[in-house]
Amino acid sequence: MTTRTGATAAALARAAALAGYAPSLHNTQPWRWTVLADRMELHAVRERQLPASDPDGRLLLVSCGTALHHARTALTATGWECTVQRLPRPRQPDLLAVLTPTAHHPPGAAAGRLVRDMETRRTDRRPVSDSPPPAAALTALAAAAGTHGVAFGLLTQEQVYDLAAAASRAADIERADPAVQDEIAYWTGRQDDLGVAERSLTGAQPETTVPVRDFGRPGTLPSGPGHDRAARYAVLSVEEDEPEAWLRAGEALSAVWLTATRHGVSVLPLSAVVEVPVTRAALRRSTGDRGWPVMVLRIGVPDAGAGAPAAPRLSAAQIVDVDEVRHLLDRD
Ligand SMILES: Cc1cc2nc3c(=O)[nH]c(=O)nc-3n(C[C@H](O)[C@H](O)[C@H](O)COP(=O)(O)O)c2cc1C
Repeated sequence: MTTRTGATAAALARAAALAGYAPSLHNTQPWRWTVLADRMELHAVRERQLPASDPDGRLLLVSCGTALHHARTALTATGWECTVQRLPRPRQPDLLAVLTPTAHHPPGAAAGRLVRDMETRRTDRRPVSDSPPPAAALTALAAAAGTHGVAFGLLTQEQVYDLAAAASRAADIERADPAVQDEIAYWTGRQDDLGVAERSLTGAQPETTVPVRDFGRPGTLPSGPGHDRAARYAVLSVEEDEPEAWLRAGEALSAVWLTATRHGVSVLPLSAVVEVPVTRAALRRSTGDRGWPVMVLRIGVPDAGAGAPAAPRLSAAQIVDVDEVRHLLDRD
């Protein structure tokens, strides 16, 4: 069943706007939605791909996958079931997905919570507390990734040391690459609705076992004396190293992160190690050559205190095209 009412178009437009809360590499928000009467399309915005750090567009697709999962979650919250076609037209590779609502039910009791999780999820770059993440939360995160056919591999202590070495090597390689440094500088500390704001970065670079990304400038986010001793690290990996799998990995990343938000657990993606081919290969070897690593996550219990601040976002008008349905939206 497809519907062509203003209510459907309004639900799609709202889902596309809520997908704006999705996380993306350096907050590039590299997506655009087209809302039609009976479906919505997700398009990649290549102008916001990072050619030096992400030449294959792998992390662009992961970022767009998080937006796709956010949009689906927003539709679920308003009671809409939908089908998803990923990369439906081989000749149009930037049309990443088509979401088509198929049926509507009264929204369930969890609806408000789903939207709240999207609104309150944050990247928290502060060191974590000395309490390890609860086993039940880790099990829930693995299940969330599994729903999308993506493996969530928790690293052993030995593998964490391998990760620390690989992350430190990736940081050195990227520090020595002027093109990557230019990209980081371009996307950090901007005054507009994109990029990593100073308020989201800590003052000093924390001295943790696994180094976090160095954005090249101190921020204004106060952080305590925490460390990453009690953090757990996980690798999201896919069986095929190709675009549809990267998109699914983004959907899994979103599902994992929203689940973590609900459990009060913090997530910090560490992508430099999968941006640099030699360290990505090292990580793949260290994790037993099982699948292709797409993302590394630090998972921890935040230190008590205020949550991390919200990052800037483009407005709905900048990321959602409703021209085709404006007459339906105006009518209702
Ligand atoms: C694919 C991807 C890679 C990311 N890599 C890193 C990273 O290496 N280091 C980091 O501090 N944040 C990383 N992030 C987090 C983004 O910078 C963050 O999502 C963005 O700035 C928006 O902030 P928010 O998540 O608080 O909404 C990554 C996010 C995504 C989706």
